[in-house]
Amino acid sequence: MKYRASAPSNIALIKYMGKSSYDSNLPSNSSLSYTLPHLKTEVELEVSDKTQWKPLRDGGVELSESGYKRFTGFLDKLCDTYDVKEHFTVRSANNFPGDSGLASSASSFAALTLSFFEYLKTEKKIEVSREEMAQISRQGSGSSCRSFFGPWCLWDSKEGRVREVEFPLKNLIHLAVVVSRDKKKVASSEAHRRVQTSPLYETRTGRAENRLVELTESFQKEDWEKSYQIVKSEFWDMMGLFHTSDPGFSYLKPGSQEALNLVDDVWEEKKDGPLVTMDAGPNVHLLFRQDQDEMAREFESKLSNFSVMAYRGVIL
Ligand code: DP6
Repeated sequence: MKYRASAPSNIALIKYMGKSSYDSNLPSNSSLSYTLPHLKTEVELEVSDKTQWKPLRDGGVELSESGYKRFTGFLDKLCDTYDVKEHFTVRSANNFPGDSGLASSASSFAALTLSFFEYLKTEKKIEVSREEMAQISRQGSGSSCRSFFGPWCLWDSKEGRVREVEFPLKNLIHLAVVVSRDKKKVASSEAHRRVQTSPLYETRTGRAENRLVELTESFQKEDWEKSYQIVKSEFWDMMGLFHTSDPGFSYLKPGSQEALNLVDDVWEEKKDGPLVTMDAGPNVHLLFRQDQDEMAREFESKLSNFSVMAYRGVIL
């Protein structure tokens, strides 16, 4: 018997960066994300004599040694928590190229948690709420808890809750500008630790929480330009933490700068443009409204020296 699940990735506009607990991935500040239903991980669990990971499809991407340990270690933890004595072969695959630098722990840990709960439901008649699943998944990788809700998800650090939030903005067009496929030198888990050495970190929580309030308000009012400014300040704030850590580090590549400059130029010229953000990596994420489809296509052609993954959203 196989227990299958799939989960989407998500992109944070208010970033989870810095933890108040490393053991269970409790964030120092709240974060807000937009779900990316086109970037998914599929996971399949099968009872076997030992815990092991395999690619779901022949020729699929292999996990690094540390990735393997982290993924199977989390599965063991799930089994301990629910007193499951069986072991599993876990198979997984992303529906986006593994070397695209977009491989995110969010979709893979969320899909692993969902497939484990599929097993619990079928075999042990155990069912828990979606929020409880999200909270459990968080312990594998923090950002994965936001992949349980969409299109907008709030991970509130004060309430300790993860939930869907409603904004009039939906069906955004997403462009992921893949400027580098190199393996990153500082994993996001390490970034969370290192930023605490930055002199800017002491006041980081306040800045992130204030931006969350401002962004919530500007999304509700559908003030796109204000939203763009807040989202931009937020990712540069995170970059500032990276650059001023001890030792400092950077994910920016010449291609990242090129894509960011293009966004600035378009906003300056048209007084309109996409929301722009970056994660712990060199790739640039752009979000456009549906009525900006033509502009999104222009971006795609101007950035054609990079691999641009486009998702045009679903019109409901
Ligand atoms: C920069 O969820 O990858 O993408 O909890 O250690 O697994 P762990 O960290 P992770 O951190 C993601 C950081 C980020 C910002 C974000 O997604 O909010």
